[in-house]
Amino acid sequence: MNVYDSARMADVLAPLGYVSSSGPDGADMVILNTCHIRERASEKVYSELGRLRKIKKARTGSNNKMVIAVAGCVAQAEGEEILRRAPYVDIVLGPQTYHRLPEMVALATRASDKRNGNGNGILDTEFPVSSKFDHLPVENSSQGISAFLSVQEGCDKFCTFCVVPYTRGVEFSRPIEQVFEEAQRLVKKGAREITLLGQNVNAYHGKNETGSEVGLSYLIERLSEITGLDRLRYTTSHPKDMDESLINSHGKVGTLMPYLHLPVQSGSDRILAAMNRRHTAEEYLNIIHSLRKARPDIALSSDFIVGFPGETEADFEATIALIKEIKFSQAYSFKYSIRPGTPAGMLNDQVDDSVKNERLAYLQSVLLEQQNDYNSSKIGKELPVLFERQGRHEGQLIGRSPYNQSVSVNDAPADLIGAIRNVKIDSNLSHSLGGKVVEHGGLGSSAVNGNSL
Ligand code: 5AD
Ligand code: SF4
Repeated sequence: MNVYDSARMADVLAPLGYVSSSGPDGADMVILNTCHIRERASEKVYSELGRLRKIKKARTGSNNKMVIAVAGCVAQAEGEEILRRAPYVDIVLGPQTYHRLPEMVALATRASDKRNGNGNGILDTEFPVSSKFDHLPVENSSQGISAFLSVQEGCDKFCTFCVVPYTRGVEFSRPIEQVFEEAQRLVKKGAREITLLGQNVNAYHGKNETGSEVGLSYLIERLSEITGLDRLRYTTSHPKDMDESLINSHGKVGTLMPYLHLPVQSGSDRILAAMNRRHTAEEYLNIIHSLRKARPDIALSSDFIVGFPGETEADFEATIALIKEIKFSQAYSFKYSIRPGTPAGMLNDQVDDSVKNERLAYLQSVLLEQQNDYNSSKIGKELPVLFERQGRHEGQLIGRSPYNQSVSVNDAPADLIGAIRNVKIDSNLSHSLGGKVVEHGGLGSSAVNGNSL
């Protein structure tokens, strides 16, 4: 979502004459767009700011001044503290106010001579009543072949470890038509795949033409009508919001890719309850079962936290058992880290770091083996690959399989970028696959007819 937000900040600033630059050295303005989800986020921001301070200082007195802004969830959470610890920062803004950047920048540049890097920076971490999406300009930056589109933000689930409900605010869904129009514009600019984004994207809700309340499955079906939009994905979902109609969409909507990232966090019911996840391990398994019934080849991904307060060896083993039962195609895993202000951070029975390290290493070895097995199972198969960009080597192209695997081919013409072609997979390169473009037809060489599989 920060990638999407950064692109929108660039759109907001374009009318002021700003264009993206490759680094801070010659830049008139640097915006650090920050994430606060896990530990050390703030430390990273302060150390990055220290680096920027030197560049800014070297320019003081010249005509080439630099505005420094801190945006995103660390800005939201730390607010004033950033201006206090780093008085050379000009602007601190939260994720819900970046449509107001032009005013902030105008104020900051006007005030910069007076302030001379000595405090009184601008702070805007409000949660405005009217959504930023009603004020953002039409996107003028192209996101390329595979684009992100924010449809939902914030979260009302309040998992006890998580900072999102405090930094991104309450759950909010954009109106269907607004999303539909943005998707059409992205496709006109060259996108062939769109990933719908939200911290809790399957909590998405909107109103259809007759005013009835509808969910993410309806939005997906609407978007699947857009000609030229060959692939749809969505992330990140909560098991509790995986309703029947969304599960069925995976069997019904051809453009919805057979891949789902569905965080479970733990396989122990005791820990899931302490996390306030609102589901049991069995309920999660049942969802997976229904998904596989609707779409037998669906690839599954998840998030895991090890060392949540009070996690015993038996709880951890329950997580491993769940992983072994499901078999994921890939997954993300983290050591629990205390987030300021969250209920789990105040629990007494925090797990030792050495235990967390041990558990994380083992869990990751199991997940890595599953990912490896999954990727190897595609060797010898033909997969329709959407080519997104050139690779590092001459003639190499990189694309994605329907199952969200990165696929590289050698000796392919660059004009295949943006096309879907069948690739015969011949190698498992551990985090990606290698193969050769199948020259003549076959299932999925569907760049022409607009279907993706
Ligand atoms: N500690 C460790 N991991 C966390 N996540 C969220 N909060 C924490 C935390 N306090 C992980 C969860 C979530 C992912 C985005 O980050 O697994 O799904
Ligand atoms: Fe955080 Fe996701 Fe839980 Fe919401 S559902 S509180 S975003 S972990």
